[in-house]
Order: sequence, then structure tokens, then C-alpha cells
Amino acid sequence: MTEQRLVLQNCGRVDPANIDSWLAAGGFAALDRARAEHTPEEVIAWLKASGLRGRGGAGFPTGLKWELTSKSAGPERYVICNADEGEVGTFKDRYILERDPFTLIEAIAIACYAIGARRAFIYLRDEYRDLLPHLRNAIVAAHSSYPLGCEIQIREAAGAYVCGEESGLMESIEGRRGEPRFRPPFPPSSGLWAKPTVIQNVETLMNVPAIIRNGPEWFAGIGTAQSKGTKVFSVSGDVAQSCVCEVPMGTPLREVVEGIAGAHDIKMVQVGGASGRVVPSARLDTPLAYEGVLGAGAITVYGEGRDTIEIGLRTLEFFAEECCGKCSPCRQGCEALVGILERLAQSRARASDLSLLRDIADNMMLASLCGLGQAAPNFVVDTLQAFGDEYLARVLA
Ligand SMILES: Cc1cc2nc3c(=O)[nH]c(=O)nc-3n(C[C@H](O)[C@H](O)[C@H](O)COP(=O)(O)O)c2cc1C
Repeated sequence: MTEQRLVLQNCGRVDPANIDSWLAAGGFAALDRARAEHTPEEVIAWLKASGLRGRGGAGFPTGLKWELTSKSAGPERYVICNADEGEVGTFKDRYILERDPFTLIEAIAIACYAIGARRAFIYLRDEYRDLLPHLRNAIVAAHSSYPLGCEIQIREAAGAYVCGEESGLMESIEGRRGEPRFRPPFPPSSGLWAKPTVIQNVETLMNVPAIIRNGPEWFAGIGTAQSKGTKVFSVSGDVAQSCVCEVPMGTPLREVVEGIAGAHDIKMVQVGGASGRVVPSARLDTPLAYEGVLGAGAITVYGEGRDTIEIGLRTLEFFAEECCGKCSPCRQGCEALVGILERLAQSRARASDLSLLRDIADNMMLASLCGLGQAAPNFVVDTLQAFGDEYLARVLA
């Protein structure tokens, strides 16, 4: 299996500490082209035609988000780059930030041009604070080499998983606890400081300069009917080689985990981190695409012999720890699921615990305020279906 490097094309090829090296590789050509040849409306039309969708997990169409934001009233608008990367097993955004910060800066400047924003923020994961000097230098170098048309600032994240959720992130930038907001309104009409705001994942933005350079048809020609372009994954777990790789949308999961990461004797693969979906080994030919499995870009491989209940318990303990507590379906649901999984792990659960597990999971998925609580039960729901006998084996007779 060969990779197709579009987002990662400069990684390892340019010196991320030297803007001249990036300029020599065509840096700012896309921003130049966007401004010289296209109105902001045309840039947005190109993004819509490209079919680019968000890479941070939810998959919302990027061009539509920009259009809605640009049409919202008011002189002040913002662009936020979501570099919080808190999903378990995800390290692809860090890979990009380390190796190609200039393309990200160029993409942010194109977004600002398209929606009419003068200020942009990079919300950087707390655990990535070692990257601060590197990113600050890149922003200073970019500003002094080229009129970006916008001011880009870094905001250090608050160190909570839920702060990666877009409304919690905005609360955090505004100086409050990172808790999700009730919606509507959505960020395109009322985001940061109640102003129209575009918020995008690092990888989503990294696609933008390539689309402007090569045209929307070129981009739409890569991938599947509903999933255009490529996807970057961080692959880890029971693999021969943990890695960051980029493949066309629609690539079978098997090609990444066995072909690229060299995994074998696989029991199951979790696609999308702790909140992702579980693919048992019999379904490894599932396509990596919005119409298959995708999530935020973490692929975690579990080999034969791994204990499903143990993984489920650790997963739910993570969510119980990271739950912000604002809504009760998530707050009480995570704790209750941990309790049942503890009883299962100690083989002292009752048969009624299994129906309770399903009931609580259903309610959390339906009633939680944000994606944390909605997705927290995914592992349990998927493995109850695929490995139900393991749950039954832990129930008291
Ligand atoms: C609990 C939670 C955590 C999230 N963490 C991140 C994150 O670390 N990075 C990210 O880009 N999106 C994250 N998201 C998704 C964002 O809410 C939002 O959909 C995304 O930033 C939009 O950008 P995109 O359209 O480019 O994907 C998270 C969502 C939830 C519910």
C-alpha cells in the first residue's frame, strides 16, 4: 500500500524552522493565487466544489461553513484553528505542527481572506506547549515575509479533553471553564465573543492551499463519492510500527493496519480514538471514509488476547474523568457505565447489568449535550454486539 501525501507533502521536505526553505517549495503560492485571481466568494465556491469536509471528527462541509460565516452580519469575524488534539491515540496534528507550520499559517490566512476576518487563533493543546516557541517563530517569520492580511495568535489550551469541542473551546478562549454551549446558535452566526466564527481542525485547513493551487476538480477526483481527498491517521497499539500516514479516502482499514503498520493477529481496531467505532477483524475491509469508519484520525489496534471488558473499563474511566459535569446524561451515565464495567471486570455483574448498560448507553447517546457524552458509550455498544459472549461470560450465573 502506498501513501498519497497531499496534506503531509511538505513534511520532511522543508525545514520547518526556516521559512526560506518553505518559500522555495512554493510557499504562499496559494495565498497569492487566492487574492490575485479570486474574490472571497470564489474561494468559498471552490471549497464547496472540492467537497472538503472537516477532519476533526464531525465531517461538516468546510465550504458551507465558510459561506454561512461570511454571510453572517457584523464587521468582526474570527478564524480558529483547533489544535487541541485531545482524542486518545491521535498525534497526527502534532506531526503537522512540528513539520509544516507555514502551510497551516498560509491556510489560516486564506480562511481569513475568504470570510473577511482580521484575527485568527490557534488553540494549542496544553500538552503541546513545547511547540510554542517553534510555532511563535513560524508566525513571526510568516508575518515578516509576507502581508498575511490577518493577525494570528496562539492560545494555550486549558488541558481538558472537552476543550477540543468547539463551543467549549470558545468558552475557554473567552476565559471561562471549558464547557459546551447549548446550540443553536452555531459558530458561523455566533461563535467567539458571539461573533461569526469559522473553526477548523488543523488537518482540514492543511487541505486548503492544495485545493487553491490545483483546483477543486483535482481534489474532488481523489477519494469516494461522499469523502473527497485524503485522510491522515495516527496508528498505534498492537502494531509493528506506530506511525502517521496519509491515504486516499476509501482505503480499506486493512491496508493501513496490516499493510502500513504491519499488524497481525488482530482482534479489533478502534477507529477514531476512545470515542471511535470498533471494527472487529472480520470487517477489516471497511473503507476509511465518512460512509465507512473515520472519526478524528486515530487508529488503535488491539491484538488477539486483549480483554474487551478491561479496554471498555479504561475507556469509560477516561470519559468519566474528562466529563465536564454540565449535563446529567453524561455526568451520571459515565459513572454508571464505569460501575457496571467494574462489576463485569470482577465477574460479579448480574444479567440485568447488561440491559442496564444498553439502556444507559442509549440515553447518553440521545440526551448528552455534546459529542463527549454522545460518543462515550461507542466502545461498549460496538463490542456488546461483536463480542457479546465476553460480556456474558463475566455475568454471575
Ligand atoms: C469532546 C470533543 C472533543 C473534540 N476535540 C477536538 C480536537 O481536539 N480537535 C478537533 O479538531 N476537533 C475536536 N472536536 C470536534 C470539534 O467540536 C469541531 O467539530 C471541529 O473542530 C470542527 O473542525 P472541522 O470541521 O475542521 O473538523 C471535538 C469534539 C468533541 C465533542
